[in-house]
Amino acid sequence: MQMLVLGGTVFLSRAVAAAALAAGHTVTCVSRGVSGAPPDGAEAVTADRSRPGALAAALHGRTLDAVVDVATMSAPWVRDALDALHGRFGHWTFVSSVNTYADLSLRGGTVAQPTLAPLHGRPDEELAKRDPDVYGAAKVASEQAVRERAGDRAHVVRGGLMCGNGDLSDRYGYWADRFARGGRVVVPDVPAQPMQLVDVDDLAAWIVACAADGTTGTHDGTGPRSTLDRVLAATAAAVGAGDLELVRVPEPTLVEQRMGSWAGPRSLPLRLPEELWGMVDRDVTATLAAGLTPRPLADTARAALAWDRGLGAGRERRAGLTDAEERAVLRALG
Ligand SMILES: NC(=O)c1ccc[n+]([C@@H]2O[C@H](COP(=O)([O-])OP(=O)(O)OC[C@H]3O[C@@H](n4cnc5c(N)ncnc54)[C@H](OP(=O)(O)O)[C@@H]3O)[C@@H](O)[C@H]2O)c1
Repeated sequence: MQMLVLGGTVFLSRAVAAAALAAGHTVTCVSRGVSGAPPDGAEAVTADRSRPGALAAALHGRTLDAVVDVATMSAPWVRDALDALHGRFGHWTFVSSVNTYADLSLRGGTVAQPTLAPLHGRPDEELAKRDPDVYGAAKVASEQAVRERAGDRAHVVRGGLMCGNGDLSDRYGYWADRFARGGRVVVPDVPAQPMQLVDVDDLAAWIVACAADGTTGTHDGTGPRSTLDRVLAATAAAVGAGDLELVRVPEPTLVEQRMGSWAGPRSLPLRLPEELWGMVDRDVTATLAAGLTPRPLADTARAALAWDRGLGAGRERRAGLTDAEERAVLRALG
C-alpha cells in the first residue's frame, strides 16, 4: 500500500508512519520539516499547509492507496488536502478527537452521541488551547469535510487520551516519571473518577490496519474503560521506585491549594472535573471489535518513562507539580 501521512514527524502521526513501514507499506510524510524528521524509510516531502496551493503542488501527480490526516484544528487545511488529492486516493483516515462531543459529562457514550456545532474556519490556536470546545468544533467541521469528500472511504478516528512514546504533553508521562523517582507522591483522592487511554503505538497500528483492510465509518480511538485509581496503581506497579508511597489528597485540599486538573503547570494531570468524566469513559465496544488491540498498561508506562528519560531530567514540564509545589501540598496535609 502507498500511504501518505499528513504530518508524520511527531507523536501519533510519526507512530502511524512507523507502523505502516513496519507492516511493509510505502510511506510518504508531508510536513513543514520544523518539528522533526519522519521515521527512517519514509519519504519526507516539505509543504506548509497554511500556504494556499502548497500541498497540491507538493503532491502533484501522486496517487495514494491511503491517506492519514491529523490536522489539529483547521477544517480549511482538511478541505484543501481532500481537494488536492481528489480522485487520487483510496482510503482516507482523519484523526479527530473525543472533544467533538457536545456533552462530555455523559458516561458510556458512543459515536452516535451528538457533537458540537461545526466551526468551519481556522480558529485562533491560543483560544482553542484555552477552550476545548473551540478545538472540538473545528474537528467537527473537519470530520464533515472528510465525510463529504471521501464518502464511504472515510475513517474518522476520534482520539482519546494518547500516551507513551513521543508524548510531549507530560500528562501521563508526569506520573510515570514521578513514580519512578519514588518517595511520597501526591495523588488525587478521586476513587470514582473514570479514566481511559490508548498507547499511541496501539492506536497507530490500528489506524494502519484499518486503512489496509478498508475499515471505514467513525470510531472512538481509545482503550478500555478504567478508573484513574487503577491506572495510577498499575503505572506505579510497573515503574514505581521501591520507596514509592502514594499520598491520596482529598479534593477540598486540592481546591484549597489551587491545584489544576488534566494538564498544564501546577496540575495533577488526568484529574478531571465530574462534568468532563464522559471524555474518559467512552463505550469502545465497536472500536475493540474493529481490531484496536490495547497492550498492558505496564508496557505503556515503561514506554512513557523511557521517552520521558530521553527528554532529559530536570526539564521544565508542561504538566504536573514541581518538587516544591508537591512539598507544599504534603506540608498542607500536616
Ligand atoms: N494527544 C492526544 O492525547 C490527542 C487526543 C485526541 C486527539 N488528538 C489528535 O491526534 C492528532 C495528533 O497528531 P500528531 O501526534 O501528529 O501531533 P500534531 O502536533 O498534531 O502533529 C502535527 C504534524 O503536522 C505537521 N504540521 C504542523 N503544521 C503544519 C503545516 N503548517 N504544514 C504542514 N504540516 C504541518 C507537523 O510537522 P511540522 O511541524 O514539521 O510541520 C507534524 O508532523 C491530532 O489530530 C490531535 O488533534 C490527540
